[in-house]
Amino acid sequence: MDLGSMGQDLWNEAYRRRGNFVFYPNEDLVRFINRYVRKRTGISDFMDIMPLEASEWRNFKSLDMGCGIGRHIKLLDEFGLNPYGIDLSSDAIAEGRKWMGLLNKQELADRMLVASVTDLPYEDDFFHLCILYGVLDCMPRDTAGKGLEEAFRVLKKNGLMYLDLYMDDTKGDMDEMALAGFDKGTVKSYYTVQSIKDLVGDKGSICEFQIIRTTDADGNAIEYRNRAHVIVRKNV
Ligand SMILES: C[S@@+](CC[C@H](N)C(=O)[O-])C[C@H]1O[C@@H](n2cnc3c(N)ncnc32)[C@H](O)[C@@H]1O
Repeated sequence: MDLGSMGQDLWNEAYRRRGNFVFYPNEDLVRFINRYVRKRTGISDFMDIMPLEASEWRNFKSLDMGCGIGRHIKLLDEFGLNPYGIDLSSDAIAEGRKWMGLLNKQELADRMLVASVTDLPYEDDFFHLCILYGVLDCMPRDTAGKGLEEAFRVLKKNGLMYLDLYMDDTKGDMDEMALAGFDKGTVKSYYTVQSIKDLVGDKGSICEFQIIRTTDADGNAIEYRNRAHVIVRKNV
């Protein structure tokens, strides 16, 4: 079965079921931005953390790959990080553009494009920051590998990448079709610590690797709630 070619229709179907209509940002991503990129210090005050020249800060650009309806585009914009976004699902991008338009952020709506992680419509070394939140684990792993190569291509030297993927210690490295849930029919891929390190390869250095586990009262893992958060700096 060619899972890769089915991706766009299946993700469009998921969004038509109103699956993955998530409006609020992930707390760990907010923490990452504050610690590694730009810290919010007051209602309208920010402190730059990433060690960049003033001219680089004036031209700062960030990319949300697999942005869905754009919850993290809105977050990146609130931090003044000049976001762009792509997603395979035309339904998600249409909803995101509508949302940004209603927020009077037409420039953000215009920067949300339908594209695959494997073929980004940007030149080399364009972005200072690239996030892939819950994305590389939502496609076959060979697609994820090509997507990460593209992320490194468009990221500037020393640029930062934030990856979030779920892990399931009982499954190891495998791809399967989601049988239920908001993303029914789409491909889920499971990674281990080693396969995430292999995916990053030698193009980036891992600055932080956290595994966040959520269990029930008996210590049993809750499905999809074991997540790897990985912060990578592109090597010079
Ligand atoms: C679990 S959702 C996460 C969405 C978003 N990052 C968020 O946190 O709300 C996974 C997203 O990956 C997108 N996706 C799947 N395969 C893709 C591909 N090859 N290229 C770009 N986006 C893809 C899906 O359309 C979906 O929006």
